[in-house]
Amino acid sequence: MKKLIARVALLAIAICTLLSCNTAPKGYTLKNGTFHYNTPARPAGQQDMLAFAAEPIDTVRVGFIGLGMRGPGAVKRFTYIPGTKVVALCDLNPQGVAKSQAYLAAAGMPAADEYVGDENAWMELCKRDDIDLIYIATDWSTHAKMGVYAMEQGKHVAIEVPAAMTMDEIWALINTSERTRKHCIQLENCVYDFFEITTLNMAQQGLFGEVLHVEGAYIHNLDEYWGEYWNSWRLKYNAHARGDIYATHGIGPVCQVLDIHRGDRMKTLVAMDTKAVNGPKAYKKHLGEECPTFAQSDHTMTMIRTEKGKTIHIQHDVLTPRPYSRMYQLTGTAGFANKYPVQGYCFQPEEIPSDAAPELDNLNSHNFVPEDVKKALMEKYKHPIVKDIEEVAKRVGGHGGMDYIMDYRLVYCLRNGLPLDMDVYDLAEWCCLAELGALSIEHNSAPVEVPDFTRGGWQKIDGYHHAMK
Ligand SMILES: NC(=O)c1ccc[n+]([C@@H]2O[C@H](COP(=O)([O-])OP(=O)(O)OC[C@H]3O[C@@H](n4cnc5c(N)ncnc54)[C@H](O)[C@@H]3O)[C@@H](O)[C@H]2O)c1
Repeated sequence: MKKLIARVALLAIAICTLLSCNTAPKGYTLKNGTFHYNTPARPAGQQDMLAFAAEPIDTVRVGFIGLGMRGPGAVKRFTYIPGTKVVALCDLNPQGVAKSQAYLAAAGMPAADEYVGDENAWMELCKRDDIDLIYIATDWSTHAKMGVYAMEQGKHVAIEVPAAMTMDEIWALINTSERTRKHCIQLENCVYDFFEITTLNMAQQGLFGEVLHVEGAYIHNLDEYWGEYWNSWRLKYNAHARGDIYATHGIGPVCQVLDIHRGDRMKTLVAMDTKAVNGPKAYKKHLGEECPTFAQSDHTMTMIRTEKGKTIHIQHDVLTPRPYSRMYQLTGTAGFANKYPVQGYCFQPEEIPSDAAPELDNLNSHNFVPEDVKKALMEKYKHPIVKDIEEVAKRVGGHGGMDYIMDYRLVYCLRNGLPLDMDVYDLAEWCCLAELGALSIEHNSAPVEVPDFTRGGWQKIDGYHHAMK
C-alpha cells in the first residue's frame, strides 16, 4: 500500500512538473492552436509612458557606452548637435575611446572622462549626477541590463538596435521606464531615411488611401563583417538564436505608417525559416570550428496581422549574397510605394468614365510614376522634421544622414520637453519578433498572439505624429 501511495505521489509530481514546464517557466500557454504570452500585470502605482514628456533639459549631457564600429560615429554626430555635452566615454577597449576623444578635440570640445577596460565600469558612468542621457552601442547581450540600470540611476536611455532580445528583457525595460518615468528609446535610424520619412508623410496625407499591407526587411550579407565584431558576438548570437533577431530596420518604418499602438496593434504573428546552410559555413570560416547546431536560418520570414486587419511581412537574411535591401513597401487602396530594389510610387489612375473601355496605353496603375513626378512628389511631401536639417544631415552623414536626424530629434525633443519620436512600446513591438518568431518556427509556424505591450492603452493616441515645439 505504501509503495502504491509513493508511486501515485511520484506520478502526480511528474504530471505537475510537465504541465508547469509547458506554461509557467516559459510564460506562455497554448490555447486552440495559438500561443499566448502572459502579459505581466502593471505594478500598482505605475503608469504607461504613452506621449510621455519629461522636463525640458537645456543642455543634454551624454555618457556613451560601447565605442566599437558604431559608437564613435554617434559621438561625432553629437559634436554637430547644438545644446549637447559629451561628458563620459566607456568601452572595454581603449581604441574606440581614443577615436571618440579625437572627434571631440577636432570639434574644439573638451575631452570627456574615460571608463576603459573594466567590464563593469559602465555602472560607475551611469551613477554620475552630471549626465542626463546614457547612449548605449554595445553588443546585444548587454543592452537591456545596461538600459535598466541607467534608468534606475535616474537617466534617460537610448539603446542601439535591437534594444532587447527576449520577452523578459522587453518587460524589464517597459516596467523600469514606467516606474522611473525615464525615456527608453531604441535608436532605430531607418525611420528617418529620406524615402521612408517622406513616404510616411504621403501616407499620413492619404495619398495611398488606406494602407493595408506593408513589407520590410533586413537583407544584408554580413560575411565581410563577421570577423570585425568584438569577440565575434554577432555570429555567435546567430549561432544560438532562431527567429528574426534583427527586425527593427524593417519593421520600424512600416509600423509608423500603420499607427501601431496609436490606434492599431500587432495581434497575431506566424514565422517560417529556411534550413541553416551558410550560417554553419560562416561559423567555421570565422571561428575555426564546426557548429552543427547553428540556429539562425539563411532566410527568416515573419507575418503579422493587426487588430484592424492589416498585414505586415518582415524578412531577415544576413547570410546569402543578395544586394542590400530593407524592402520598405506599402500597399494601399489607392497607391503603392516601394524602396528596394527600385524606388517608386504607383497610384490609381484618374477617374476613367465608366463607359470607356480600358486602354492599354493607360498604364497609370500598372507602373511606377515617371521619375520627374516622383521627384516632385518627394519635394512636395518632404517631412516637416527634415526640412530645416536636411542639408546638415547630409553633410554630417551616418547612413546618408538618417543617423544625424535620429540623434538631432532625440536631443530636440529632450531640450523642448516633448514626447520622443519612439517610445518603449515601439521598442517592445519591434524587438518581440525574435522570441515570438522563434516560438512560432519551433512549432511548425503556429500562430502566436503578440502581447499588448501598452497594457490597454493602444488606442489612447490618435495616429502616429512627430512632436514639434
Ligand atoms: N542602427 C544601425 O544602423 C546600426 C549599425 C551598426 C550597428 N548597430 C548596432 O550597434 C551596436 C554595436 O554594434 P557594433 O557594430 O559597434 O559592434 P562592435 O562589436 O564593433 O562594438 C561593440 C562594443 O561594445 C563594447 N563592449 C562590450 N561589452 C562592454 C562593456 N561591458 N562595457 C563597455 N563596453 C563594452 C566592446 O568592447 C565593443 O567595442 C549593436 O547593437 C548593433 O546592432 C546599429
